[in-house]
Amino acid sequence: MAKTGILDLAAGIGGQIKKEPVESAVEKYEKYQVRYGGDAQTRKDNCVDAVNKYYDLVTAFYEFGWGQSFHFAPRWKGESLKESITRHEHFIALQLGLKKGMKVLDVGCGIGGPLREISRFSLVSITGLNNNEYQITRGTELNCLAGLVHSCNFIKGDFMKMPFPDNSFDAIYAIEATCHAPDAHGCYKEIYRVLKPGQCFAAYEWCLTDNYNPNNESHKKIKAEIELGSGLSDIRSIRQCLDALKQAGFEVIWEKDLAVDSPLPWYLPLVTQHFSLSSFRLTTIGLLLTRIMVKTLEYARLAPAGSFKVHSVLEIAAKSLVDGGREGIFSPNYFFLVRKPLSKS
Ligand SMILES: C[S@@+](CC[C@H](N)C(=O)[O-])C[C@H]1O[C@@H](n2cnc3c(N)ncnc32)[C@H](O)[C@@H]1O
Repeated sequence: MAKTGILDLAAGIGGQIKKEPVESAVEKYEKYQVRYGGDAQTRKDNCVDAVNKYYDLVTAFYEFGWGQSFHFAPRWKGESLKESITRHEHFIALQLGLKKGMKVLDVGCGIGGPLREISRFSLVSITGLNNNEYQITRGTELNCLAGLVHSCNFIKGDFMKMPFPDNSFDAIYAIEATCHAPDAHGCYKEIYRVLKPGQCFAAYEWCLTDNYNPNNESHKKIKAEIELGSGLSDIRSIRQCLDALKQAGFEVIWEKDLAVDSPLPWYLPLVTQHFSLSSFRLTTIGLLLTRIMVKTLEYARLAPAGSFKVHSVLEIAAKSLVDGGREGIFSPNYFFLVRKPLSKS
């Protein structure tokens, strides 16, 4: 059953964390962040703990506000949020040339919204790799409900050291997930290892654009708040991602920041003045209602102590993402298609 009601939200906050420590978990998570004195190296060194805490805390909110796919998308006029998200998933499947019978890996798969959509669209088997136990439990329930247990499965593991033999997959994709890697080269190198020679990897990465100025205080603040709000240790530039791919051994087929040509901005659903029935829970009134409900549920002890604090982290995420998008210094739509060469010459 879809978990989109307010009581589902209250029950899901904290994920695998037992209810009482939600408050201390969110406080510990915050301590990794710039605003609370943390630095990028500490976040990288404690990446698995920080990212897992983040997703335990926020997954119920994501599903409540966003649905089963936890990513943005370029958007055409007249498209609903859901339509744009689905089209973005079909786009990556078509770029990879997915065909019936191929064995595909989804790196950092969330609760499996993209994986189920792409498996049905391209008739492929997909394994979702995820380090978060709570998301895997939830994703497995949703696979069962969708009747996809024979074509879709989840494996618990860290994408920095994947639990697969060399040359295992016919295609690999990652949607807004490898941005959590403490080191892009290490992560891409693992993807390279488990991909069969001659086959492709495609991804949507969260990146700083060329407009980002590391000496501009306002840019630095936006970057730090996106990291705080979204569980990231250090957002990389497009150039850093591209260099890391080449260093890992990939041939770049093509790459582009798809946000640049998008008729509507990817951050539109988060613009609080924007009214949309399809993303009502993300609008000003929707967010205000959620905030009041979460506070009430926490007060009535139906939601764990600390739930309101988690919601506040997500409000910081929404505001900083909009600021980053408006300034043109950040994009979650940096796309690349790369190939593992047949043999090294
Ligand atoms: C923004 S979500 C995107 C989820 C999914 N790709 C989607 O679009 O719905 C990022 C995902 O990356 C996963 N992740 C983060 N760090 C990871 C790691 N080290 N190993 C495996 N998965 C990881 C998180 O647990 C989460 O599921």
